[in-house]
Amino acid sequence: MVSLNSPIHLQMLRDSWLAKTLPARIFKAIRNELRAGGVYGLEWGDPDVWHPLKFVRDRYVLPYVKSDQLAVEIGPGGGRWTRYLLGFKKLYVVDYHAELLRELRKNFSRYPQIAFIQNHGTDFPGIEPGSIDFVFSFGTFVHLDLDIIEAYLDNIRTILKPTGNAVIHYSDKAKIIARENPGFSDNTVEQMRAAVTRHGFRMLEEDTTTMWHSSLIRFALA
Ligand SMILES: C[S@@+](CC[C@H](N)C(=O)[O-])C[C@H]1O[C@@H](n2cnc3c(N)ncnc32)[C@H](O)[C@@H]1O
Repeated sequence: MVSLNSPIHLQMLRDSWLAKTLPARIFKAIRNELRAGGVYGLEWGDPDVWHPLKFVRDRYVLPYVKSDQLAVEIGPGGGRWTRYLLGFKKLYVVDYHAELLRELRKNFSRYPQIAFIQNHGTDFPGIEPGSIDFVFSFGTFVHLDLDIIEAYLDNIRTILKPTGNAVIHYSDKAKIIARENPGFSDNTVEQMRAAVTRHGFRMLEEDTTTMWHSSLIRFALA
């Protein structure tokens, strides 16, 4: 509860003045430039900087990273989220487009724990059935139609361990920003939940509020 006498508003004003001084702005610009390191995709928001993505990073990614476990990232793009998955013993980065895997290699080829895999759109070539502890995908299923998502769910069921977790970020057309974006697929919380259940998983967690055009679901084998 914030009382009328709370210093919070004046403190916010002082913080803003401080942040707008020239040295503070130069420092921030240099720090952001160094952090970005040329990674494709950071222009959509940096999970180290932008609060909703920071929340996604801290709640749905970092707690699952374990040095003795195996993970899959679907649609890594330039590696915006790959950066946080490097602590796995083995990380399979699976993308449909060879060009995107080439882009990813520019910044990630030096990590021996990464296996770069080009797939046919929904499959996991070369990944052992029942071997994966964590499946993560952000910014990719938002563009995939439900039939592709369903095919992926079938294949995730094959590779996931009984103790494994999957976290998928998908389009939520109940939200106006998704409805106004023709690049976002026709999906909703209800449709995604039903698909996940239909394909043999149980839903563990659902986040329908952090993102303004999409939602997240965490699930495991039923
Ligand atoms: C918009 S980018 C998102 C990249 C990254 N996850 C991020 O959040 O910055 C979408 C990525 O998904 C890949 N992609 C598109 N369709 C795919 C599919 N069916 N299977 C795997 N990757 C796919 C694209 O090549 C691209 O790398």
